[in-house]
Amino acid sequence: MSEQYDLVEATMKVIQDRRSIRHYTDEPVSEEHLDLILEAARQAPSGENAQPWRFIVVRDPDTRKQLGAIAGGGSGRRFTAEFVTEKMQERFSSLEDEAKKKAIFEKLTSGRVSAFLADAPVSLVVCGRKDVWDLPYDTSAAIENILLIVTALGLGACWVIAPCIDIRDEERIKDLLGVPEELKVISIIAIGHPLRPHRPRPRLPLNELVYSESWDSPYYQEES
Ligand SMILES: Cc1cc2nc3c(=O)[nH]c(=O)nc-3n(C[C@H](O)[C@H](O)[C@H](O)COP(=O)(O)O)c2cc1C
Repeated sequence: MSEQYDLVEATMKVIQDRRSIRHYTDEPVSEEHLDLILEAARQAPSGENAQPWRFIVVRDPDTRKQLGAIAGGGSGRRFTAEFVTEKMQERFSSLEDEAKKKAIFEKLTSGRVSAFLADAPVSLVVCGRKDVWDLPYDTSAAIENILLIVTALGLGACWVIAPCIDIRDEERIKDLLGVPEELKVISIIAIGHPLRPHRPRPRLPLNELVYSESWDSPYYQEES
């Protein structure tokens, strides 16, 4: 029983400690760690056990630089779209400091948010078979496994979708890495040794998320 509880505690700790890491040291990720990361991905659930995921491990600095540039471009365009449609202003409406708000908008629209990808020693490119219906769900399960084992190993990772949102960027990645037509590039996972600890991002309380039996009855009455 106590062994079981230790496992629950250790698992919960990994889940709670995971955060998106965007700054890395130069230390490479070892083969041994990469093997564990890829094995964790392979063990993920998938609809009809289709296992549609395929992975490309990119360590070459020049290729990573090109992926980082594509990620920066995708990120900049996405946030510019959020800015011009005023979605971004809505998202930050509670922030009263106008100078701070302007700085955030500038940073987001600049693309710098995702260009960090070039600095991670490993870019794990997650691709998947286009003919599998559950592809986005399947690959998301594999990616979460990757993020959790990375955390358990004391490494850091960030799920980066920015270079894959725009079909033109996806084509650039496919050309760069020789990805076959029948596969889709889903996301890139940046992996490395964290430069510094990261603060946790806020989470909504459970009483805003969970209902009991039907939508009109909250599962939790109090903030939890
Ligand atoms: C589907 C998905 C796509 C994401 N894409 C990006 C991205 O393109 N660039 C980036 O810097 N972070 C990206 N992230 C990381 C999120 O910004 C991050 O998970 C969120 O802010 C919560 O922070 P945390 O992961 O530290 O808890 C993505 C996360 C998910 C789940």
